[in-house]
Amino acid sequence: MSENNKKTVIPLEKPLKGTIKVPADKSIAHRAAMLASLAKQKVLIKNFSSGADCKSTLSVLEKLGVNIEFLSENELIIHNKEGFKEPKETLYAGNSGTTIRLMSGILAGSDFTSIITGDESLQKRPMGRVINPLKQMGADITAQDNNTKAPITIRGTSLKGIIYNSQIASAQVKSCILLAGLNAEGVTVVREPFKSRDHTERMLSYLEADIEVEDTKVKVKKSNPEAKPLSIPGDISSAAFFIVAASIIPGSEIIITDTGLNPTRTGIIDVMRQMGADITVLNQRTECNEEVGDIKVKYSELKGITIGREMIPRIIDELPVIAVAATQAKGTTIVKEAEELRHKESDRIKAICLELKKLGADIEEAVDGFVIYGKTKLRGNCELETYHDHRIAMSGYVAGLASLRPVRINEFQWVNISFPEFTQMFESLYQ
Ligand code: S3P
Repeated sequence: MSENNKKTVIPLEKPLKGTIKVPADKSIAHRAAMLASLAKQKVLIKNFSSGADCKSTLSVLEKLGVNIEFLSENELIIHNKEGFKEPKETLYAGNSGTTIRLMSGILAGSDFTSIITGDESLQKRPMGRVINPLKQMGADITAQDNNTKAPITIRGTSLKGIIYNSQIASAQVKSCILLAGLNAEGVTVVREPFKSRDHTERMLSYLEADIEVEDTKVKVKKSNPEAKPLSIPGDISSAAFFIVAASIIPGSEIIITDTGLNPTRTGIIDVMRQMGADITVLNQRTECNEEVGDIKVKYSELKGITIGREMIPRIIDELPVIAVAATQAKGTTIVKEAEELRHKESDRIKAICLELKKLGADIEEAVDGFVIYGKTKLRGNCELETYHDHRIAMSGYVAGLASLRPVRINEFQWVNISFPEFTQMFESLYQ
């Protein structure tokens, strides 16, 4: 991701119109590949993600001896016939927090030593949050900076179940412990303060592993997932950019089909509706234990709201683009209790505030969020940075569409982390 691919975004003078289908959910795709590798038979995965992050998961699994066969661009078969083998080289998770944290849970109970690391941004992100509970389970792990940062060295050993009360609502932490728990003696219980995305739990129960869920408490026992075909819905976090764009560009009306509607992820719909957005969900159904449906969005006048606490895990990846919506909403939008945003692919609180200010937004940074006073006509005519963060890049693009003058985005290639088809898909909605 080193070349500087500058993108010029021209303000849209016409509405967005049409129907699109966004690519596969990144979170579910990571889990599908990992859980398929825990089954001994072949597993077919339909509609896999084309993003670089999920490719990082596949490459880590391949280095562990898993056979991956692509039947077409987004359809693949995973076969870990002989079980994981000691890797000959360092496992590279690229930019992907989900890859390094969930794989650490799997590797902790293996019978070999592995080292897992990632790019510059991933090496700065907190890993103590998974290393500490894994150590409590008996894992033999060492890492940089006093066991808090990647590279992480994992000497596989036998694990024992624990009861873990997580201080943060993080699906990566929860899933890491649950995956380790599948290979641990006794019972493993994870409790979190608020419910974070529950794709791991849903997929484990779909694949008939030994798991019980009771509100914010999840319990697993030693078991192996069954080899059943998996199909991945569209990523609501990718749909979020279109939901916001259609809500703020006058006259727009779009439909996003086959999108994941898991309630732990639909905060974007709830928040936008609370702001006054016109969103209808159609065709709702369940596939592989995940809710799926079509989302219809029409332009509408927005108003500012206050967002905090329980809502935060349900919109953790959508807050940058919600901030763009807030600049176009009448009144004040307050985002609080969202300090987790500082630990993402970039410090998203800082990035949102700096970049939206350049565009002319009236925004104030807080320790745990930000306050936006709307509605402001964004000036544009400036250069935005992405901070090596795909969601900051895509949020900048949406802000550019709603600006008065063109906007230049530096290092726009970071969109490829989750959504290589992003620009093309937007252009398909231009009249
Ligand atoms: C993810 C969980 C969230 C989210 C990330 C993907 C996952 O991270 O921000 O993009 O796939 O489990 P945290 O668990 O750190 O909140």
